[in-house]
Amino acid sequence: MTATLPEEDLEQHFEATIERDQRIEPRDWVPEGYRKTMIRQIAQHAHSEIIGMQPEGNWITRAPSLRRKAILLAKVQDEAGHGLYLYSAAATLGADRADLTDKLINGKQKYSSIFNYPTLTFADVGVVGWLVDGAAICNQVPLCRSSYGPYARAMIRICKEESFHQRQGFELLMTMMRGTEKQREMVQEAVNRWWWPSLMMFGPPDADSPNTAQSMAWKVKRHTNDELRQRFVDMSIPQAEALGVTFPDPDLKWNAERGHYDFGAVDWDEFKNVLKGNGPCNAQRVAHRRRAQEDGAWVREAASAHAAKKGSSA
Ligand SMILES: [Fe+2]
Ligand SMILES: [Fe+2]
Repeated sequence: MTATLPEEDLEQHFEATIERDQRIEPRDWVPEGYRKTMIRQIAQHAHSEIIGMQPEGNWITRAPSLRRKAILLAKVQDEAGHGLYLYSAAATLGADRADLTDKLINGKQKYSSIFNYPTLTFADVGVVGWLVDGAAICNQVPLCRSSYGPYARAMIRICKEESFHQRQGFELLMTMMRGTEKQREMVQEAVNRWWWPSLMMFGPPDADSPNTAQSMAWKVKRHTNDELRQRFVDMSIPQAEALGVTFPDPDLKWNAERGHYDFGAVDWDEFKNVLKGNGPCNAQRVAHRRRAQEDGAWVREAASAHAAKKGSSA
């Protein structure tokens, strides 16, 4: 009966659980700050999965073959599934899914800035899979060890699927690179547009990331933004070489002393501007989500009427 314990004992139990590297579960008492931080992070992540369906969903009807269409459909459906696991994880902390959706479509909660960029050619589908899902994997693999149990477990399955997404993107690009000169140009042009926004996916530099220290102490986060960004850069360069593309950064070079690649400065003004709502597709993405929510109202009403009827006849 933990509910009858005084608050300092509960707090001690919470701290000790984190200290021992064990998981916090929905039945456990948590400090209000932890609960709020987790809900915010999980909701932002869920929103990113759902909004992230749009840029690629845009190409389903125009995929160049039945095979590509089937792959893309499966990928976009996976993202919907990721959103659902995550909304469910947030619900275990007391969040209400309808309320989270309201906050998303009213601009009160954020989603990843990357999904505010347009997918202009079919090469973008490959580059999004390769770089955007690749960056997501870098961010999310350590979250499989996040201190909140339902989030950590959701992340294990999500990461397996993200790994499929990344490979399908790379395979698509490999196929295009073996095609015509025009196709190779399309790939390079898409890489040029997505490289910098992909680096922004890791969030602001550590010096400018006020929540990092607390999230690391709670073991919600295992590595800082800059560490993960560096890992992504180091991982992506040999892949770009294998593909035969370059990244649009003249400062990119191996630093033997550090044992890492050096890279140029990210344009953080652009990042902040996109987060503020001024990216190329912010308004379009949110309007589309709002429309889907309104169009689905009758389904939700019918489902709850059905559930109520079943409940009363039982
Ligand atoms: Fe996903
Ligand atoms: Fe994905």
